[in-house]
Order: sequence, then C-alpha cells, then structure tokens
Amino acid sequence: MFHKKTVRDVPLAGKTVLVRTDYNVPLLPGGGIGDDFRIKRSLDTLRYLMKNGCRVIICSHLGRPDGRVVAKYSLAPVAERLAQLLEAPVAFVQESVGDQVTQAVKRLSAGQLLMLENLRFHAGEEANDASFAKLLAESCGAEYFVQDGFGVSHRRHASTDAITGCLPSVAGLLLEKEYQTITGALSHPGRPLVAVLGGAKISDKISVIERFVKLADQIIVGGAMANTFLKFKGMPIGKSVHEDGLDDVIKRIYQRADDKLRGHRSADDFILLPSDAAVAPAIDAEQRRQTVSVSDVRLNEYILDIGPASIAEAVNRVKDAQTVVWSGTLGYAELPQFAFGSARLALQLASQKRTLSIIGGGDTADFAVNWDAKRGESFSHVSTGGSASLELMAGMSLPGIDCLLDD
Ligand code: 3PG
Repeated sequence: MFHKKTVRDVPLAGKTVLVRTDYNVPLLPGGGIGDDFRIKRSLDTLRYLMKNGCRVIICSHLGRPDGRVVAKYSLAPVAERLAQLLEAPVAFVQESVGDQVTQAVKRLSAGQLLMLENLRFHAGEEANDASFAKLLAESCGAEYFVQDGFGVSHRRHASTDAITGCLPSVAGLLLEKEYQTITGALSHPGRPLVAVLGGAKISDKISVIERFVKLADQIIVGGAMANTFLKFKGMPIGKSVHEDGLDDVIKRIYQRADDKLRGHRSADDFILLPSDAAVAPAIDAEQRRQTVSVSDVRLNEYILDIGPASIAEAVNRVKDAQTVVWSGTLGYAELPQFAFGSARLALQLASQKRTLSIIGGGDTADFAVNWDAKRGESFSHVSTGGSASLELMAGMSLPGIDCLLDD
C-alpha cells in the first residue's frame, strides 16, 4: 500500500545518512520545549539507523524565522531532549551547511548522531533552492536521504523536495506509518466510519469535509466550525468565532450529502450539529460554563463548547463505530471548563479498544496527547502532522512523499 522505498529497502548499513525530521515543536514562553511528542515519534527511525551503524545527521525546521537566524528558534534544546530520550549523545552544530558541518560529521563514529541547526535560518530552505539542497547534501557527505518529517511533507522545500534530486531518498518509519494508517483507514475503512470535525476554521478543511461526505457513515461537527454551520442554518450564535462568506461552500456540502443519501436519511442526521452549547460572555479563564440550547444563544455570548445533550449524542454515534477519524477540538479546549466535549470524546475513543481511532491536525493531537496519561498511546494513532495529515485525509498527494524512490 505504501509505494515508496523505506529505510528497510536500501543497503544503508554503515552509511552516512541525512534524516529530515519535523521537530517543529511547541516552545515555552521562557524558552525550552513545550511538548516532545514529535521528538518521541521520531525515535524508531533514529534507533533503526543507529543499530545499522549509520552516521546519522538530523535536520529540521523550527518555527518560521523567514531565512534569518532567530535565537529562540534554535534546535539546540531539541538536540538535548533527543539525547535524553535516546540515552545517547547527540552532537549539535550551529549551522546546517558549510565547513562546520563537514568537520562535525568527520568526528562521528558509526551509530552516532549529529543535529544540524534550523534549516529555515537559510532562505534557500523554503525557496526549495536546488543549490541550497546540494550544499546541504555535500556539507554532511550523506550517501542517503531519509524523509521522516511527515508533518512537513506537504511543503515543497529544499529539505523535502530539492534534496531528493541530490541523494537517493527513502521514507523513514514514522512517515511510512503515518501514510499507511491514514490512507489505509480511509481507503478500506472498517464501518461504520465516523468523522468528528471541529477546530476553528472550515476554510482550511473544505476538502476534508467533502471527502468525508463521500466516505463516512456519520459526520459530527463541533468547535467553531459548528458555529459557521449553525449560523448558516439561521441559528443565533452571538459573538461566537465563525467564518463569513462560506454559504455557497456549505450549501454544496449539504447538496453532496443529499445526493449521497438519496432520501434514505436526512442530511441533518448525517452531518450532526450541536443541539446545545456551553456559552460565556467572554473568552477567559474566569468564565463559568453555562449551558443553553443552540436556539437560545444571546447576542453578547460566545459558544465555547458543545453542551451535555450534544456530548451524549456524539458519544452515542461514536460508540458502535469501527473507525473514527477526529480532526479539530469540539470547543475552546485551551480552557478546561470548555474542554468537556473534547475530553468526553477522547475518553470514549480511549475506551473503545476495538475501534480504529485516528486523531489528526495539530491542535487536536496536542489536546489528545496532553489529555491522555499514556501520551497518545490510548488511541490507535495520533498523527504528528497538522496540515499534512489533513491533506492526506482529503486524498491529496504530498510532495515530500511523491519525490521519494518508488518501491
Ligand atoms: C507543522 O507544524 O505543521 C509543520 O512543521 C509545518 O510547519 P509550517 O506550517 O511552518 O511549514
């Protein structure tokens, strides 16, 4: 099903290997790493390469420094955390190209790791500059390139695209797993397949919604996305976050749902919107949760979570599912009093051991990993990708995967 060569398919034992990871991790306001989920998920590939006696050079981006050196986006703290997790030294070099890199690679023995500084400190990275990619490959003397940065594989950058013109390029184990799990669940889903869609925006999820209208047996909408749908339906949403100008898009979504359901079921049952909501007059930590019907939201109120009846209905629709894909929190989950809907759904999925549960999209994955005492292990798959997993769910091809060697 995964039609690309992986680290298992090429003779890279004892070789010098450049690995692209996605260590674009959340940062704490005072410096340091806010969450190491993406780092942990990269360990399998790194351990595989170490075990095979490779000299491993790791590259990544962090933040959006726009081609300039911005100290707070240094990957040095990531190298430190990686060394703790691997219980092995990770050398760090304050450049990603040039002589400093060449010298640092010379000091590496078989099975050792070196992390390069943030690729986006050079404008050539985001510009997909072929000469920057060539310099990157030559500076570290790599013989193979391994793409394991699933979260960045939707970008056409020097370290996801141009580099594959310089080195034989294969997938890492995380990339392979992400691709297989997400595309596998959607190409031959165990049914019923339920899609739970939330988050702030519809506009960046239109193709995902349309794909699920086609594929899913049930769609449940929550979060600010639901506000836009409720407004379209003529419901009062007060001051709630929503998007304007999408009436035609939503009309088309309902039209496609009607075409699929052919009168056997109503589109309103298939695309389930909240019937009640938790509201507050402001969005801050002081606010208390107050529940109202979605027809009773007042002008000065914000809808900040789905209400108890909607939570019960969502649980009810999910409980017999064989596959659940969840992308987008169901409320303003940064504040615990408005995370009830998301937390209840997480609990439901974590306890449905026979359901294939796939959680994707940056904020939802952050929520699920932080909610879960087992840091995401309670679900079948928590994706490390934000937009990359959405694009894959929407059936789009990802440039950073397309350009790897075919199997
Ligand atoms: C992500 O966090 O979604 C990826 O690392 C991509 O980051 P970008 O949106 O800055 O390209």
